[in-house]
Amino acid sequence: MASKIKRIGVLTGGGDCPGLNAVIRAVTKTAIFQHGIEVIGVLNGYEGLICDETSLLEPRDVSGILTRGGTILGTNNRCSPLKYREGENEDGSPRYIDATDRCLATIEKHGMDALIVIGGDGTMSCTAPLVTAGVPCVGVPKTIDNDIHGCELSFGFTTAMTTATMSLDRLHSTADSHHRVMVCELMGRNSGWLTLGAGVASGSDIILIPEIPFDMDAICQFLDDRMASPAGFAIIACAEGARAAGEGQTISKVVGDSVDPVRLGGIGHRVADELERRCGFEVRTTVLGHVQRGGAPVATDRILATRFGVAAMELLLSGQHDRMITWAGGTIGDIGILEAAGKQRLVSLDHPLIEAARAVRTCMGDRR
Ligand code: F6P
Repeated sequence: MASKIKRIGVLTGGGDCPGLNAVIRAVTKTAIFQHGIEVIGVLNGYEGLICDETSLLEPRDVSGILTRGGTILGTNNRCSPLKYREGENEDGSPRYIDATDRCLATIEKHGMDALIVIGGDGTMSCTAPLVTAGVPCVGVPKTIDNDIHGCELSFGFTTAMTTATMSLDRLHSTADSHHRVMVCELMGRNSGWLTLGAGVASGSDIILIPEIPFDMDAICQFLDDRMASPAGFAIIACAEGARAAGEGQTISKVVGDSVDPVRLGGIGHRVADELERRCGFEVRTTVLGHVQRGGAPVATDRILATRFGVAAMELLLSGQHDRMITWAGGTIGDIGILEAAGKQRLVSLDHPLIEAARAVRTCMGDRR
């Protein structure tokens, strides 16, 4: 049966990550060259759908973008159709409206028969009202945090982990020269995948992840031994979401109009201050920040992103709408968008990488 789909929209939502352009290219080329389908780029995530900011994508628009970081469409992690900030209430507080109808109007105006949505769990949540309204949608998971439910590997993660690993490597020589303790705070939100991966890859001495609340006494004891050893320096890879047992996470700011308003940050400095006070070592802190999200995707992310883009088109044309592409068990699959929305995939405490880290005498911040 011939597909009724003649024109699709594609948008990138949430924080950017390396590989977004590779997906946009794969979707656009597959749609145009394999199926004769037109592609409309929606600009700046859901903002573009709400405010009718779009641009027709031709093959020349996606030529040469495979290797580029970021997204040619622009993105936005503050804007949700269900909670769109517009103007102010009488008391001066921000006024939020349900902008689902505006999204539907843009979709109708441009004759989009379906939507490919590239984003994380927040963007999948933003897609829910469109799914409910009957718009055929296919999700493509992206994140440097690698925390999307149902997806064991998302593109962008390997590039970010590589950047973080190279940064931790660089801290080694300066830590060694000064006989210092170096704390490096990494991103990842509530999950420890990025810090665990980069920590193990760089041979960090201590790895602190949100899934294992840390014990400062255990860390001090480990550091005493490490600093007294011939090495005489230490590297601590600390996830932004890490926390001491019995304490909450360290929040840097709350972004009111975001689907996921809490921005973590600051735990690296807190850990460093406490270590200096308690152990007396000279400690320095590096907060890696958005460097982890930038730059060109590594080869494996380009490949994964290309496969995800092609698979998204195949899924759409097979008539299976409202699903998100996944990578699970070493192969591409899919799950319901609504099933993936609003959930986070955390590191399990018996994960083989944690076992491997412990086996090479890495302190995971606890007493084991
Ligand atoms: O989800 C990706 C991510 O980079 C997280 O690791 C981090 O907590 C957050 O986004 C930062 O968001 P923002 O770009 O709004 O500062």
